[in-house]
Amino acid sequence: MNKLEQQHLPIGVFDSGVGGLSVLKVLKEQFPHEHFIYIGDNKNNPVGNRPTEEIENIASRIAERLDREPVKILVIACNTFTVVAIDAIRNRVHCPVIGVSQGMQSVTTASHARRVAVMATVATINSHIHKHVALEYDPEIVVWEQPCPELAGLIEGGHIDDEPVLEALREYLAPIMAEKIDAVVLGCTHFPFVQTAMESISKDSIHYIDPAYETSDVVRRTLESGDLLNPSTEAGTIRLWFTQETDLAATLCQRFMKPEDVQVKVVTL
Ligand code: DGL
Repeated sequence: MNKLEQQHLPIGVFDSGVGGLSVLKVLKEQFPHEHFIYIGDNKNNPVGNRPTEEIENIASRIAERLDREPVKILVIACNTFTVVAIDAIRNRVHCPVIGVSQGMQSVTTASHARRVAVMATVATINSHIHKHVALEYDPEIVVWEQPCPELAGLIEGGHIDDEPVLEALREYLAPIMAEKIDAVVLGCTHFPFVQTAMESISKDSIHYIDPAYETSDVVRRTLESGDLLNPSTEAGTIRLWFTQETDLAATLCQRFMKPEDVQVKVVTL
């Protein structure tokens, strides 16, 4: 394949469900001329409470499916897959692989109290990656690690602002507010979809950070350094593939894409 053909290839993006659409939204905004293929393995959602070997197998199967298309780079739009499986994925595919950023640069800058928290799945919290990265930016900073075992599953089930999700959020935010933390990083790509619900509980006391913008900066550096940016001036296409039927994907996408620009289908990996 020559360079021009490679530049026209899509960018592969994936998650365990609809969560990674919060990353795709930012990528679409930053790279309007790129084509995207997104896989949401919603049949296996949620993955964040599973053993690491299972998470690694699920992530690798999706990555290999996208690699066969082929795609020019792969963006793992999932914190859990990133912390557990990025090395395994890099060993199995032929293109550059980018994981989600931790967002710790933005969150440490946003915190006046120098007290920050990460909200994430159990697997991501158990990796302590956010804490390690935060301490590299500021060795004195206090980092509260809040596992949210029910949240991604609730969001995937369509609970965005109703009582079940508010009840879970009250439980997860209570210790964070008691610790007088003023900046929280959303360490799971599902969570930006409930940021408004979070703000209704914490009011103005907490600043929430979506790391997708930091991730998008890494995507740009990778595309530029590999001379992989699509030179086209036309709007790129978006293909959304899920492993089981979902109405939620279309509803969430309407917030940031024109329905005519998007194709949604169910695939077997
Ligand atoms: N959206 C995913 C993340 O960022 C995981 C959700 C799940 O399947 O548990 O970690």
